[in-house]
Amino acid sequence: MTDADPSPAGAILLTPDGSRTAVSARYGEAYGSRHGAAAQARHVFVEGSGTHAHPTPRVLEVGFGLGVNFRATLAECARRGAPLEYVAYEFDPAPVDLLREVAEGGEGSEHSAWEELLAGWGGPAPLTVRVPGLSLTVRCEDIRTAQLPREWATALYLDGFSPARNPEVWTPEVVGRLASALAPGGVLTTYSAAGHVRRALTGAGLEVERRPGPPGKREHLRAVRR
Ligand SMILES: C[S@@+](CC[C@H](N)C(=O)[O-])C[C@H]1O[C@@H](n2cnc3c(N)ncnc32)[C@H](O)[C@@H]1O
Repeated sequence: MTDADPSPAGAILLTPDGSRTAVSARYGEAYGSRHGAAAQARHVFVEGSGTHAHPTPRVLEVGFGLGVNFRATLAECARRGAPLEYVAYEFDPAPVDLLREVAEGGEGSEHSAWEELLAGWGGPAPLTVRVPGLSLTVRCEDIRTAQLPREWATALYLDGFSPARNPEVWTPEVVGRLASALAPGGVLTTYSAAGHVRRALTGAGLEVERRPGPPGKREHLRAVRR
């Protein structure tokens, strides 16, 4: 969730579940939910996509942000020994110190993959991290023009800033391209419950369902490629 936030750009926010998020300098919105950043990552993205139960999840994310969704997914897969492939797109990488501070003491932050990500952040792109049980690639590309894998993802995390401030990632054209990256049976999930997002998902041939939202939000959307 990306609530408009009165806090200054770059400010780090402690959320009610003990996790942190921060306010984007570029968009003036929080990267994650002020009502619980870790809770949203788990509920909307990890569980909403069924990744918590998938034996071999392949996740595609738009955009990587502070890596909160990635850490939640990493921690969940590591806990049950499920191999994880994760590809994220992020066209405006946040400063590494922000990623580090927001993650400190949080889930997944002790994992060697997270340490490797921080060590390589800001280096040659794309950033790749490979450790036993995990392959991560962060592509510094604009999702509108990036070449996406076809029929690959078991889960797609659509996590742009709000449609009001970051409308370009929620267009029918982008949503259609994202739908083609889903493997049959794959699930796209997003914190948004907006009508135009729902219509874009339906227009892309996905079966859309409203699901109870995370703390602070009534509903969110999940969409399945049958
Ligand atoms: C709400 S934040 C993502 C939070 C992130 N998923 C996390 O777990 O920390 C939205 C992110 O999408 C990125 N973004 C916005 N438009 C984009 C685009 N056209 N292509 C790639 N990334 C984009 C922003 O830079 C920002 O980091």
